[in-house]
Amino acid sequence: MRKINSSLPSKILNEFDRFLKIVSSTAEKPTIATPKSSETDVILQPDDKLNVQGLMRINHTGEVCAQALYYGQALFAKDRQTYRHLIKAADDEHNHLYWCQERLDDLHTHTSWLNPLWYLGSFTLGATAALFGDKISYGFVIEVEKQVEDHLQEHIEQIPEEDHKTHAILAQMKIDEIRHGQDAKDAGGIDLPLPVKKIMTTMSQFMKFLVYRI
Ligand SMILES: [Fe+2]
Ligand SMILES: [Fe+2]
Repeated sequence: MRKINSSLPSKILNEFDRFLKIVSSTAEKPTIATPKSSETDVILQPDDKLNVQGLMRINHTGEVCAQALYYGQALFAKDRQTYRHLIKAADDEHNHLYWCQERLDDLHTHTSWLNPLWYLGSFTLGATAALFGDKISYGFVIEVEKQVEDHLQEHIEQIPEEDHKTHAILAQMKIDEIRHGQDAKDAGGIDLPLPVKKIMTTMSQFMKFLVYRI
């Protein structure tokens, strides 16, 4: 009993510290360097630049949400292996977050002002999903990764071909997201019911609409 009581404050502090680092854009260095293109980068036309800024802001927030979701799930994971799996996936998302942050800095724009809200919402969703068991928790990972893969593909098609820097980042992220989804399937994740998937899609569309702008 004493052990549980003493570890709870440190868990809360740890989560709060992580929340502050992620939403204040002071992410620690990535474990894998930002993917680079061998092609020379070009100066984007103003309209193209504005569009890429909005799209990369969405991708950055997507990584904020993915990390929050996985840390929330890890908090209530039923076994040690699931916990390790989720923390490893969150580490990869941390790299993606850093790469997106770096590109936003290059493009002289800000991250979403609403990131604290997205983080808290996703963390709560992840923690709630984990309470229903690891198979459902992995099911959330599968669905989130599928939706991220789809919107990355949309962005790859929209971003000007000559923006090699952004393309190099998104291409590697897409490869990693596909692997995360497959790993969650291999770990026993179930296919979520259609209404749950539809709610997740609606939430993600709402998030993308706002984040593109603010
Ligand atoms: Fe990611
Ligand atoms: Fe992922």
